Amino acid sequence: MIGVFDSGFGGLTILDSLQRALPGYDTLFLADSARAPYGARSHDVIHGYTLEAVEWLFDQGCTLVVLACNTASARALRNIQQLHLPAHRPDRRVLGVVRPSVEALAGLPPGAIPGETHPSAITGSVAVLATESTVASDSYGIELRKLAPQLHLIQQPCPLWVPLVEAGELEGPGTEWFLRRYLDPVVAQGPQRILLGCTHYPLLYPAIRRLVPPHIEVLSQGEIIAERLAFWLRKHADQEKKLSRGGQVRFATTDDSEWFARRGARLLGRPITAERVRLKG
Ligand code: DGL
Repeated sequence: MIGVFDSGFGGLTILDSLQRALPGYDTLFLADSARAPYGARSHDVIHGYTLEAVEWLFDQGCTLVVLACNTASARALRNIQQLHLPAHRPDRRVLGVVRPSVEALAGLPPGAIPGETHPSAITGSVAVLATESTVASDSYGIELRKLAPQLHLIQQPCPLWVPLVEAGELEGPGTEWFLRRYLDPVVAQGPQRILLGCTHYPLLYPAIRRLVPPHIEVLSQGEIIAERLAFWLRKHADQEKKLSRGGQVRFATTDDSEWFARRGARLLGRPITAERVRLKG
């Protein structure tokens, strides 16, 4: 199976795109709703929670895990890839969302190599909107300086947006005020593209799109991650072969399963059932 992990239900925005682009693969989605949001937590805490989630997905039979959560990708991916997997799970793979998102933001093709030139690459400024922890990690900055050093990166933490989405406040004058609070200073700096670098933010996309001038592109991550995961699977046939293809999807949450199923059904536009699970703490 492909495991898809997010701190909460927002990661279903990524799962939805993955299923559209890669429909046959059996998938297990895990939301650590009991401990979400991760966005203001410390590095060590996010790393520990993410490792527990990844190990749980491995134990369920996932050979490949996608960290749909930007905060988890920013804080835990490198350590898991470089230290945990080689020592404990050499046959498994964990991928994140930062690198593929940076490729798309910079106008680069999937799997772009630092130093290569591409006619599609853009110059000027780009912006990433993300949680406080993602911005503080500078993971987007680190990847962008490797792949597209010609670009200037604006990073804006938006700590009040996840609570808005959790409360279902996706539209209206109050929401608009909180959107403008973080969007206006970014727009004033004239980026060409703005990336919504958090799984919850695509749910605010219609309202964000109305507030951002039309000449600035607003990128959501779902399609970016799906396109680049498809590319990764083509390049890694040994890993792709291990994935089962019964078209099944399972949903698991660490908090109330009925609450999650209701939220998930609204987001995905179809009924779902979820199971409550306990991670090894
Ligand atoms: N899933 C997180 C992310 O993509 C946002 C929600 C949270 O703060 O846990 O960064």
